[in-house]
Order: sequence, then C-alpha cells, then structure tokens
Amino acid sequence: MKNKTEVNKNGASLMYHPPKSIVKNAHIRNYEKTYEESIKDPEAFWAKEAEKLKWYKKWQQVLDDSDKPFYKWFTGGKINIIGNAIDRHLETHRRNKLAMIWEGEPGDVVTLSYHALNREVSKFANVLKSMGVKKGEIVTIYMPQIPELPIAMLACAKIGAMHSVVYGGFSVEALAGRIGDANSRVLVTADGGWRRGKITELKSIANEAMDRSPTIEVCITVKRTKQEVHMENDRDFWYHDLMSLPIASPRCETEVLDAEDPLFILFTSGTTGKPKGLVHSHGGYSVYTSSTHRNVFDIKDEDRWWCAADPGWITGHSYLVYGPLINGATIMMYEGAPNHPYPNRWWSMIEKYGITILYTSPTAIRGLMRFGEQWPRRHDLSSLRLLGSVGEPINPEAWRWYHEVIGGGNCPIMDTWWQTETGGMMIAPVPVTPLKPGSATRPLFGIEVAIVDDNAEEVGPGEEGKLVIKTPWPGMARTIFGDPDRFKETYWKEYEKQGWYKAGDSARIDEDGYIWIIGRIDDVIKVSGYRLGTAEVESALVSHPDVSEAAAIALPHEVKGNAIHTYVILKAGATSSKKLEEELRKHVSDEMGPIARPETVHFVESLPKTRSGKIMRRVLKARSLGVDEGDLSTLED
Ligand code: WTA
Repeated sequence: MKNKTEVNKNGASLMYHPPKSIVKNAHIRNYEKTYEESIKDPEAFWAKEAEKLKWYKKWQQVLDDSDKPFYKWFTGGKINIIGNAIDRHLETHRRNKLAMIWEGEPGDVVTLSYHALNREVSKFANVLKSMGVKKGEIVTIYMPQIPELPIAMLACAKIGAMHSVVYGGFSVEALAGRIGDANSRVLVTADGGWRRGKITELKSIANEAMDRSPTIEVCITVKRTKQEVHMENDRDFWYHDLMSLPIASPRCETEVLDAEDPLFILFTSGTTGKPKGLVHSHGGYSVYTSSTHRNVFDIKDEDRWWCAADPGWITGHSYLVYGPLINGATIMMYEGAPNHPYPNRWWSMIEKYGITILYTSPTAIRGLMRFGEQWPRRHDLSSLRLLGSVGEPINPEAWRWYHEVIGGGNCPIMDTWWQTETGGMMIAPVPVTPLKPGSATRPLFGIEVAIVDDNAEEVGPGEEGKLVIKTPWPGMARTIFGDPDRFKETYWKEYEKQGWYKAGDSARIDEDGYIWIIGRIDDVIKVSGYRLGTAEVESALVSHPDVSEAAAIALPHEVKGNAIHTYVILKAGATSSKKLEEELRKHVSDEMGPIARPETVHFVESLPKTRSGKIMRRVLKARSLGVDEGDLSTLED
C-alpha cells in the first residue's frame, strides 16, 4: 500500500497520506494555515466564502449575534438559493452541462442539463403558484428517489415557499404527524417507487395520512410505477397533467428573498417527544453547504458527484441537492436498492457514468462488503478520485475495504461528522489531510469544537467527553419550527454560560488533535445511519392495545451499526407469545416505517426506573451486553 507511511505513536492506527496527484491540484493546500486564518477572523472568512455566491444585494452584517442563540447571518443581504443552484449557471458554460444523471431501479435513465433542470423547476414552480402556494408556506414532499423530488424541492425554494421532505420509507403515522406540524396545504407525492424489484405504496400511505390531515387541500402525484391508485376528485392531481397545462410555463422569476428567509424544515428525532422540525435559511445555508462541499470534496468542474443518501434526510438536502448544484457539479441519483438485481449495481453505475466522487454511509459500505470483493472487482472503478462517509462512525474494517477495494488504495476517504442541526459538515478532513481510519479528523474552517467533561473543562488526549461547538457558523439551524424554547432548551441550555452548542455526541481527541466520534449520549439511536428516537419507538409500542409500557435501546449490529431492541410490559389480560412478538415488531414498522422495526421484543414484568419514573435505558443496555451496570443509586428498586 503506497500511501500508508506512518504508524501512530500509540501504534494503534496507521496514517494514510493523500496521493501526490490530489495534493497538487487541491483547492486547499494547507489545512493548518487556512484553519488558523479562519478562526482568527471567522466573519472575514465567511464573508469571503459568501462572495463566491450570487447576491441580489450584498449583506450589511456578516453575523448578528444580538439575540443568542438565534444567530442571524448576512443580514440585509438579498439572495435565493436557486439564484445560485440554477440561475447563475445558465449564464455560463454550465448551461449545457449535466446537472443530473438519474437511474431508476428498472434501468431507465433521465439526464437533465442545467438548462433543462431550470425548465422543469420553473414549470413546477408555476404549478405550485397556480395552486396558491405562497411565500413562507410549507409544502410537504413524500416521494421516492426520482428526479421530481429535487425538482419539487427546488421549485418551492424558487418561489420562497418552504419544503418539508418526509422520507419515502416513513409510514402513515409519521407522515400525518409531519404534515400536521407543518400545517401543509399541499402534498407532493408519487404513485410509488421501485425498491428491490417491488413497488412501494407511497400513494396509498399518503392517502391514509391525508385522511388524518385536515390541512391538506391539494395533492400532486407523480406517475412513476403506473400502479392503480386512488385519486380523490378536487384534491388529487397528476403531476404530468399539471405540467402540460399552459400555466406550467418554463419561465418563472426567482423570488428575491432576505438572507434569513427560511428555506426548509426537516424533521429529525430528538431525545423526547415528537420529532422536531429544524429550520434552515436561504443565505447561511447556501454559503455553508457550497463552501464545505467545495473544500472537503475539492470539487472540480469535471466532477461527477454521487451522494447516495436519500433526499429525505439532511445529507440528501445538503449534498445531493443544494451544495453540489450551487457548485455547478453533475449530480448522480439512483432510485433503488444497492444490491438489485445484483450486488454490483452501484459499482456498475460508477463505471457506466464515470463517477469521480462517492459519498455514502458506513452501513451501506458494510452491507455491500458482505457480498464480497468479486462484485466490485468486475468493474473499472478508476474514475473515482475521492470517497466520503457520513452518518455514523466508520469501523476500520469497512474503512479499509472502502479504501482498498473501491478506491483502489488511491482515493482518500473524507469521513464527515455533522448533523441535521448543523446544516453541513463540521468535522472532516480536506483531501490533503493525513487520515486515520475511523476518525473524522479535525474541524473544518471557521468551526471551533471542544470535547469537555461535566464541568465544561476540556478533557485530555484519549479521554471521553461531550462534543461542543464553541462559535456560530452560517449553516446552523435557526430554530425548531414553532418551538423556539425547545431549540434553546435542547442545544444551548447546558452550556448557556459559555454560549456553546451541545452536539449530543460523545467523542475523544487524540494527541494529534484528531477527533474520534463515539456516538450519541442521549436517547437517539442511529440505525443504518438513520436517526430515530427511543421515545418514538416506545410510543409506537404503547399505541398497541396489548402494551402498557415499553423501553427501546440500541445494541451493536454488524451491518446496521445499531439495531433497536425493545422491552415490553403487557397489559393485564394480554399474554406473551411468539405471535405477539412478531405482531409488535410489525406494529412499530407500520407506525414509523420499516427502518424502525425492532430486532427483538422482550416481554418483561418490570423496567428499571429512576425514583422519578424515568426508564434507565443504560441499565437495560448494560445487562444485554453483559457489562457493568454502573451507578445504580438512583434506581427505584
Ligand atoms: C452521527 C447526519 C460519526 C452523530 C449528517 C451525529 C457521525 C448524528 C458521523 C447526526 C461521522 C454523523 N462519524 N458519527 N462521520 N456523521 N454522525 O442528524 O451521532 O441524521 O450526532 O445527520 O449522526 O445525525 P443526522
């Protein structure tokens, strides 16, 4: 292995150095220097990054921190993310460049140049306007991974409406809850999508959700699978019908917005209660996603960028849609399962389209690794230059496989740590950074992080602590939709005195300043890189007529990273059985979506609780793993 030249001081991990060809052409040649400058004067750094974008009117103030933690960025500035993701490319050679290559699971292909993307987005923007969609209104989008999904998102942004994308794998309950919270009047969906050769039932789930959602007046459905679906008079319209009407003109002015005008809400699981809708804004998010994407992945005009995440999650928002389009990249999008019809599907598409950068999750890597090297070995993957990882810590074994077998030992892996709340990558290498498998390396430009103990003191090298972010950044979520108090409470209260952001992760820092993320410290579970709350799983379980109480924990899983295990106390009169266990697993899947389906359901007589009645999940976890249960002094009995 030619780039592996150094053994770490403690001998634990090897350093991987980037190939010369990458260093020579990198945008950022010297991480340390750029970082130091950015930290010395973050506002100057962000102003410089912001100047790379198209503004209708320049900002007056880079950062307004007069109402902490409700920071405002680029105030006084006028912008629209579409002005940057589409409009400005139309005036350059990129007009005829491919903006998107999409492949459906059955093998159908759609390509759109920036010119063509602009036409589709403008047409749909006009359709939305004709349905009365106004600036500031939230349109809910519930779709498979088809081109109309980013088109719908971009169309909302263009007219100043917000979108709320609900992951297409979510169930009736989850969709209805999110429609209700967003007060959406308009839902955009599809008749279904292709997944592992089967059709998903999006429209029937949407129909059921709409039955419970009095706010919905209009539902626009893309015909993808052509399966029979129920359409309601006066409410339901076919996308293609509307797009062929004269109102769907391909010319539409992009709405001039304030930098702080909201772009979207995205629901994500938290520690307690219902998922929260994080709000991101046009100005700061445009600057942040494009800057991080350009720096971390060293984006060049000739790149073909593939972010394999679903647009229903933040990774898809920031790095499938917005960041890469602002940078004028060609984005790849694929509808279906990575192993359909065979486990070489991804590798064949990398070869076929000449993909240069692949950004995916450790769980996807582990899943494909299982099928063995022979599948990627059948393909020429030499177009790849860089690889990326996101969503959970990547285990060194998966890292090495990704590096060797997929990257041919030549592609540095950008392990990027960030969150729905941060809008974009926060801790990540740039291509010139020497890498240690399993570490997201060091903070990005303008980002100051620390790992602290319970007294907010920085911990020493190798010690575990809580990850905090010390200063604001442009991509940060502005608030929780409709609940600013919860925003303060969740992220800012613990370090109110210091003014730090609490990430909710534990981490270690080593003697080289490299950060090693350990995982969530709260009751958020990462299953296959997707974020779920124990509280949501538990409330799904107790919504079953036989269940009186429930607890959910995460235990390590070889492919998924973590899997959900549950403990259930039945109501008097109900009896435990294999059948009921299966029924409860299915019930959670029906309530939340298949990703939340518990691995196991254990029937128990009681649950370990604190005297104040809180379930001590760590005790359940310790018992299942057969490790020390720790301090039990607060245990009730
Ligand atoms: C975890 C996903 C280790 C972390 C973009 C974080 C990671 C949560 C990494 C946010 C990484 C994300 N290494 N852990 N490279 N990236 N995480 O909101 O626990 O879905 O707090 O955002 O994912 O999940 P979210």
